[in-house]
Amino acid sequence: MYLDNNNDEFRNDILKGLSKTDQKSTPSKYLYDALGSQLFEYITEQPEYYPTRTEIRILKNNSHDIIKNISKEIVLIELGSGSSKKTRYLFDEILKRQEKLFYFPIDISINFLDTIVTDLESLNRNLIIRGIPEDYINGIKQCNNLLFENNISFDTFSRLIVFFGSSIGNFEPEDARDFLKQIRINMHDKDFLLIGFDLVKEVHLIEQAYNDKAGYTSKFNLNLLNRINKELDGNFVLKNFDHYAFYNTEENRIEMHLRSKLNQRINITGNKESIPILEGETIHTENSYKYDKAKIEKLASRSGFMVEKIFSDENNWFNLVLLRPC
Ligand code: AVJ
Repeated sequence: MYLDNNNDEFRNDILKGLSKTDQKSTPSKYLYDALGSQLFEYITEQPEYYPTRTEIRILKNNSHDIIKNISKEIVLIELGSGSSKKTRYLFDEILKRQEKLFYFPIDISINFLDTIVTDLESLNRNLIIRGIPEDYINGIKQCNNLLFENNISFDTFSRLIVFFGSSIGNFEPEDARDFLKQIRINMHDKDFLLIGFDLVKEVHLIEQAYNDKAGYTSKFNLNLLNRINKELDGNFVLKNFDHYAFYNTEENRIEMHLRSKLNQRINITGNKESIPILEGETIHTENSYKYDKAKIEKLASRSGFMVEKIFSDENNWFNLVLLRPC
């Protein structure tokens, strides 16, 4: 069973979100329990879901050009490393230039970290991996301490912090800015930040990516209700809800919702009165913001960075952006 020691926080957030009188909404982080993370992995393999495949292609084609912007020896830090599938394309390129590579994957999920460390260390003897089970900002701080303790000085090394998957798109724009500012505070002048951004494109292409034919995105979305049922003793009937994802052109974002098929009432532990949901009413479960060059540049400059270089695919569907503190 999936154990969550932050059950009170989960309950409070869900109750607060479902009690809203205007638009019901729930924080998107709750989609990613063990099953949700597994379902997201399936989503990334669907033909309609272009971001993962495109980002990997950009990395494959440009790993040399990305690394050559950094003149010092590199220490690699990854935020939300998951299975570290994408990062592998950077290891070889970096190890062509230096004998050893320190790699710090930061991920809340300890399970993922353990398997990565064993897999990767056996794959390449010159990788020195320390998995950090922390949130991103605390994880970066912990890396700084570890480097300091190992006498790795910032005079000889540059840290390359990577944040793949267009996960930045889950942040509200002002939260994305605050998040990058926090990262910036913990960086040195010669460090770099590499971020994946999904780009604005034809609406039908984006909408298809969040409405795959095989139905994994729908399962992923509905899994939130399952999770509430299991962990908060909820009474959601999944077949009474539809997966509903559309592109909001004004906000430049995919919105994912769960839409009620009928008038119903929801019970969750710790809640005295049941919550009414009307036919057609939705629970907003996730936003995924899409960027363009101007928005990327604005975000960078407002958080203390300069765009050093942009790496793209032939369709310009996705960007890997190398940022430098300024
Ligand atoms: C993990 C946030 C990058 O926004 O594309 C995929 C999540 N949600 N399909 C995205 C997601 C539905 C994904 N990110």
